[in-house]
Amino acid sequence: MRPRAPFLAVALVAAMTTIPPRSAAAQPGPDGFNYDESKVGTYTLPELLVGPDGAAVTTPEGWRTAARPRWLALLEAEAYGRILEPVPVTAEAVERGTGPDGMRRVQARLRLGHGPDAPTTEVLLYLPAADAVPTDHRLPTFLHLNFGGNHAETADPAVRLPRGWVPNGKDTGVTDNTAREASRGTLARRWPVARLVGRGYATATASYADLFPDRADGRPASVLPGMGYAATDAEARPDEPGAIATWAWQLSRILDWLVTLPEIDPRRVIVVGHSRLGKTALWAGAGDERFAMVVSNESGCGGAALERRDFGETVKRITTAFPHWFCPRYAGWADRAAEMPFDQHVLLAMTAPRPLYVASAAEDLWADPRGEFLAAVAAEPAWRLFGRAGLGTDAFPAPDTPVGHSIGYHVRSGAHDIVEWDWERFADFADRALAPRP
Ligand code: GCU
Repeated sequence: MRPRAPFLAVALVAAMTTIPPRSAAAQPGPDGFNYDESKVGTYTLPELLVGPDGAAVTTPEGWRTAARPRWLALLEAEAYGRILEPVPVTAEAVERGTGPDGMRRVQARLRLGHGPDAPTTEVLLYLPAADAVPTDHRLPTFLHLNFGGNHAETADPAVRLPRGWVPNGKDTGVTDNTAREASRGTLARRWPVARLVGRGYATATASYADLFPDRADGRPASVLPGMGYAATDAEARPDEPGAIATWAWQLSRILDWLVTLPEIDPRRVIVVGHSRLGKTALWAGAGDERFAMVVSNESGCGGAALERRDFGETVKRITTAFPHWFCPRYAGWADRAAEMPFDQHVLLAMTAPRPLYVASAAEDLWADPRGEFLAAVAAEPAWRLFGRAGLGTDAFPAPDTPVGHSIGYHVRSGAHDIVEWDWERFADFADRALAPRP
């Protein structure tokens, strides 16, 4: 028999340094984890509607002033690390041009903080052609971080290449962590710009690697040391922010810029994320209530999926393979999920009463689709406090059948990915949930 340990080690290294490819249909995830529903066991989730003193919360006011701050502080301390403070944002090297199909394109390098050494992130934004929208109309906007660099998300030849580290990946063909022209458009299936813009949305993206390179030893090369946080993992405090917190901060700083643009509706910016960036979108929406709606696509463990369900990825595996994503204290919950003072329904509830969409893929067992759905069911009481219907069902839906009200959910047939069909459903949901009210 082949020894398992060396194989696993190789798989982990590969997972840490490359863009996750589409998983093959017959392969739900790594070996040695549970993919059998009959072996999940029973569990009890922490009560959601309680304040710091353990007293029941029964009103929107109680949620805002007692339950929500309590849970947010706990998630900061135990999972994602402290929320990073805002800094002034300055747009440099702004380019305005015309993209495919007459769409307006804006590129801007955002300098985050003061001085020439302050970090930057490069944002790409598409808007409908000026004559396609009424004058003074302000657009609802989808914002997401991407894995391969802005130029990989679209075939538009004018889109600038990232200047720093990018992950290696099969799709992009990158093997030396350096962005290349040949990657242009290789991940375009993940961002159907023309469809979104055609439906009346603006849509913006930036490379997630701009501020924290996604590798276990990424902290020293990240923006964190320059912001007064630890320069090495050894120095990091138990609640030190990690990569997810940094990526969430990037999203908020991009939002700071978006809301200054006359074309964008500052009250209708939607944060979207796939996979590790779905975990990030949830955390960004938790910490920054200016995001009007949150979309988690196949975020799984550390994202939308309940940890108390033993199915697919575990806290132990994620904190071993990706120690840099979370705060150091999170690793202490490996093998102790049942004792965690929170579960992921709490993270989902941080979006309440704003609209939330959770999406899974049927073959993506590693991310535990049913666990993502059940977390949304368990988060629903937070919306009900506000008189909102939430998901409105506890029956796991058939593939490709969106359900829900203020919480939307679908399980798409197929493998781990974010594709046009997913985005169309996010837009359907946003059309309803963010429609301007009279
Ligand atoms: C790995 C990891 C997941 C993560 C995924 C991704 O599979 O275990 O937690 O969501 O990568 O980001 O694609």
